[in-house]
Amino acid sequence: VTTATARQETTPLTVARIDLNAFAGNIKHLLRFIGSDVRLMAVVKADAYGHGAAALGKVAQDAGASHLAVYTLAEAVALRNADIDGPVVVLGPILPTDAPVVVARSITPCIATLPLAQSLSSASQSRGTTVPYHLEIDTGLTRYGIMPNEVEEFCLALERLPGLEREGLFTHFASADEEPVDTTRTQFSIFRDVADRLAAIGMTFPIHHVCASAAALNFPEMHLDMVRCGICLYGYYPTTQVVHTVEVHPVMTLTSQIARVRTVPVGTGVSYGHEWTADRPSTIGLVPIGYADGLPRQVQGNGKFLVRGFRAPILGRIAMDQIMIDLTDIPDAAPGDEVVILGQSGADYIWADEIGAWAGTISYDILSGISARVPRVYAPGGNCAGGPRARSGSSKDR
Ligand SMILES: Cc1ncc(COP(=O)(O)O)c(C=O)c1O
Repeated sequence: VTTATARQETTPLTVARIDLNAFAGNIKHLLRFIGSDVRLMAVVKADAYGHGAAALGKVAQDAGASHLAVYTLAEAVALRNADIDGPVVVLGPILPTDAPVVVARSITPCIATLPLAQSLSSASQSRGTTVPYHLEIDTGLTRYGIMPNEVEEFCLALERLPGLEREGLFTHFASADEEPVDTTRTQFSIFRDVADRLAAIGMTFPIHHVCASAAALNFPEMHLDMVRCGICLYGYYPTTQVVHTVEVHPVMTLTSQIARVRTVPVGTGVSYGHEWTADRPSTIGLVPIGYADGLPRQVQGNGKFLVRGFRAPILGRIAMDQIMIDLTDIPDAAPGDEVVILGQSGADYIWADEIGAWAGTISYDILSGISARVPRVYAPGGNCAGGPRARSGSSKDR
């Protein structure tokens, strides 16, 4: 509250603008691609990949997402506290002691342990209600979910507990965003086999879902009843190996401004450790964004941001709160000029996958890493909805 109040009294220099029209547009394009028989679970975990889950969750529902997904129970409760109704699925583990919260706030858990199932059952009994749940099958990601050879026994145990209602059966792919496709096809067939085996003993689930963004775009035959997408809704293709079957536009732009301009003589060391030293008389600009805002230190050396349509290289180390950039070749650069970190300036643009490549990481990491210090400003449109398509990153690991 204190930070929010302080923000209202001040003017930020570094701002993330969130284009709600671009977000809704990405959802509409995806919905058109998957067709009316397939539902969309909009993944808004990690504060909607840094965009703001409360605002984007609402827009996602209005645009046609039937479910929202988060990772932690606290994220789900935060959505409820923001007056978001409708199904909210918690993809991650939940402690059995939190079962009453799940039931009281009508949250949809993924059940992976019997103690959680038992607590949910008792909590639902004492409130006289039922808990819809999703079940993850670990078909090869080796991360979370029930093993295929244990699923029947686990499900039979769940069936004995009153108050639990089967809703979703799902799995998550390890490499749907890269060649070869064999791993994905194998995981898919293991999943189909599990679903068939469960159906054979009378345990059917109304919603089967296996596709995150990469598989949703690459493997339409795997859409089943629902797709579970995050990154493409925010305007990015997961990797270069994902086909552009759906047109998407980046939702977040991130800008700062030049706060100070100095000219320095040859030999001047800049920023901590003097890793960069001027080899010509140089004009340097201070930009108030640093690693505490989510700009990874690993970007230094490669990173360049846009000023007046030109790329201004970062000079030396990235500090917690600020960077220095080289303005020597940018005519008339002056204090107050916009610095585009994510977005378009003139004919050029930088998106999170390019920053990710500079830092040896992926767009997901860059977007979700933009810290709480950077205010999010929500606009119904106009930031980058008409801008160029996001380029794709090179690897995924989240
Ligand atoms: C289980 C699960 N489903 C769906 C997603 C969404 O993935 P993407 O952002 O690639 O669409 C994630 C994200 O990591 C996930 O962990």
